[in-house]
Amino acid sequence: MKHPWQRWYKMTHPLPTAVLKGYGVYLPQKILLNADLPPALETSDEWIQQRTGIRQRHIAADSETTSTLAINAARNALENAGIAATSVDLILVATSTPDNTFPSVASKVQHGLQAYQAAAFDVQAVCAGFVYALATANSFIRSGQYKTILVIGAETFSRIVDWQDRSTCVLFGDGAGAFVLQAETTGRKGIINTHLYTNGAHTEMLYTDGGASSGDLVGKVRMNGKEVFKHAVEYMSAAAQHALDEANLTIEEIDWLIPHQANSRIIESVGKRLKIPAEKVVITVDSHANTSAASIPLAFHAAASAGKITAGQKVLLVAMGAGFTWGSAVIQL
Ligand code: ACO
Repeated sequence: MKHPWQRWYKMTHPLPTAVLKGYGVYLPQKILLNADLPPALETSDEWIQQRTGIRQRHIAADSETTSTLAINAARNALENAGIAATSVDLILVATSTPDNTFPSVASKVQHGLQAYQAAAFDVQAVCAGFVYALATANSFIRSGQYKTILVIGAETFSRIVDWQDRSTCVLFGDGAGAFVLQAETTGRKGIINTHLYTNGAHTEMLYTDGGASSGDLVGKVRMNGKEVFKHAVEYMSAAAQHALDEANLTIEEIDWLIPHQANSRIIESVGKRLKIPAEKVVITVDSHANTSAASIPLAFHAAASAGKITAGQKVLLVAMGAGFTWGSAVIQL
């Protein structure tokens, strides 16, 4: 039984909710079709489409880095939200492909936006990075510490794939997407819940064979595709179901499932396990390939700008990446 004072305090001091005020993306201009991959790879458009659903990927220009992609996506998101860069309190960038080992991409974004009042740091959870950054932003807003937060997923995986290894290089692409979140204490909109998970026992299944502390090279992506596939289906389905259960929602009450875009067969398996109709599942892996931490905001933007995702709907985000890291989020738009 709550003391009357506690009830009064809760009524007069409601916890702020993180409301999605705007979104934006940036994709490099250059498109690499499956058919245009180097013949030496001995792959084919048919093999790639059949096994992954991927038709093409965007590739960053020599003059572009992860931070330039992130800055462009952030500018577009702020414009979409109608919020000035000078109002942002915190910038979070989810990335595994920073321009440099340090400083963070987030610091470069802060400078690019001239948002010097904002704190800024990177979040590293590979393909689950955007959900991890969203959960971090949600906690800062719920605690009342920050009001306006820019959450960005930005990657240039084309720089860390081994272009001689057909089993990995065909899977990835470059891009960036951003959400602007703002605290609100009235209304019913906002992030309903977030859940994060890690199982560090499987780091050898997906990793780079180099890095700041283990060699003088960045390293290239190495992967046990079959194991990653199996874990992705299992973990993403479980995380999505957990989010629904905690929110006391049924899958029928979800308007859109926006999964991490790695492989259309992974996405279809997750959709089937959750028993969500295929037409409610957003798929953009065909045109972007796997853009790691950028894939969810890129998929969200594609569906929202096509007029599919609209205000008042509920979306369920779910992702899994190396580490293994995975997580989910439910948002009332
Ligand atoms: N083109 C042609 N043949 C290929 C290619 C290619 N690009 N890549 C692999 N092959 C060959 C293999 O060499 C193998 O040949 P072999 O039988 O002569 O040895 C054959 O195809 C079958 O290879 P498998 O690895 O068994 O193929 P599988 O059906 O498992 O598909 C794939 C491979 C697409 C990588 C799949 O395992 C997968 O998608 N896994 C998930 C990985 C993923 O999405 N990772 C992204 C990061 S993690 C995340 O985002 C969740």
